[in-house]
Amino acid sequence: MNVDGKAYRTIWLREDGRTVEIIDQTRLPHEFVTVVLRTLDDAVHAIRSMQVRGAPLIGVTAAYGVCLALGVDESDESFNAAYDALLASRPTAINLRWALGTMRGALSGAAGDDRVAVAYETAARIADDDVASCKAIGEHGAELFAGLARDKKEQKGAEPLNILTHCNAGWLATVDYGTALAPVYTAFDAGLALHVWVDETRPRNQGASLTAWELGQHGVPHTVIADNAGGHLMQHGRVDVCITGSDRTTSAGDVCNKIGTYLKALAAQDNGVPFYVALPHSTIDWCLSDGIADIPIEEREAREVTHISGLGEDGSVITVQVTPEGSPAANVAFDVTPARLVTGLITERGVADASAEGLVALYPERAE
Ligand code: MRU
Repeated sequence: MNVDGKAYRTIWLREDGRTVEIIDQTRLPHEFVTVVLRTLDDAVHAIRSMQVRGAPLIGVTAAYGVCLALGVDESDESFNAAYDALLASRPTAINLRWALGTMRGALSGAAGDDRVAVAYETAARIADDDVASCKAIGEHGAELFAGLARDKKEQKGAEPLNILTHCNAGWLATVDYGTALAPVYTAFDAGLALHVWVDETRPRNQGASLTAWELGQHGVPHTVIADNAGGHLMQHGRVDVCITGSDRTTSAGDVCNKIGTYLKALAAQDNGVPFYVALPHSTIDWCLSDGIADIPIEEREAREVTHISGLGEDGSVITVQVTPEGSPAANVAFDVTPARLVTGLITERGVADASAEGLVALYPERAE
């Protein structure tokens, strides 16, 4: 992905081969700032404060957090403390546990080896695996978009394909390419006429600030809308397809994603609009089948609801309060869209039905 014409990933190793650099997403879209992670605490802070966010990127940052901890102390005790601290940094995205489990597996088979070197090699592999998965998701999803665009042209003689997305599941949420936005980029680069409706995604506005920014960097036509506008646009035939990412998808195809995703899926079903979810294998929680009952939902501080940040008239970033003094606020960060509302799951292996059978058909090694 390019920022002002320069290729970036969202996380990378610095020249010393040990310290890690990230894009500070809390400063976007008004400032592009990178931050160096030198310690385990830096990595935990980056995830917790959402300098890095998005399920796949959280996982990769945790993997590098383990590397930073082992760089100071290679012992099992040090690994276990790092594992616990990183796992507690955010509760919902399963990619975090998956990446830490992958690190544990690689390190436990590395007795007598240089554990720090093994840790860095494994973290780099996890990052490269994410890039490859997202690239493949882009190709599968772009094929699907091309089919929808053909149908639209035949039936209505109209372009472009209007795509609605929620939150940020673009390259900023992954190491590169994105999940939900990967098909957008691939299709756009192949010349498909498309336009993206970007849900602002209150309370943290990942859509308005991050998705809009990265689509703009790539030159993709888009329009930011208030979160509540999607249903109306669907009723009036102005959305051809919805696509979101996921923080955790159960073995039965239930999808946990940013709060508000469920309402979009309901509106999509009511209006006959296909609702796709794009995710890599690392987002599937094979241990859970009932998303509503079993997925831990992050609750964040009320201040994210009561206050909002943006660019002031003098060009500096300011924060203002939008609620009356003393009004309590609640901040539930994710919701679960039941599999029955999901048209298909776009993975690196292709498009699956949102069901246990559909997922096992794509991942037969997971059949019991
Ligand atoms: O709270 P966030 O910003 O980490 O939530 C991110 C999302 O909900 C994304 O849609 C999800 O992680 C999909 S990742 C490509």
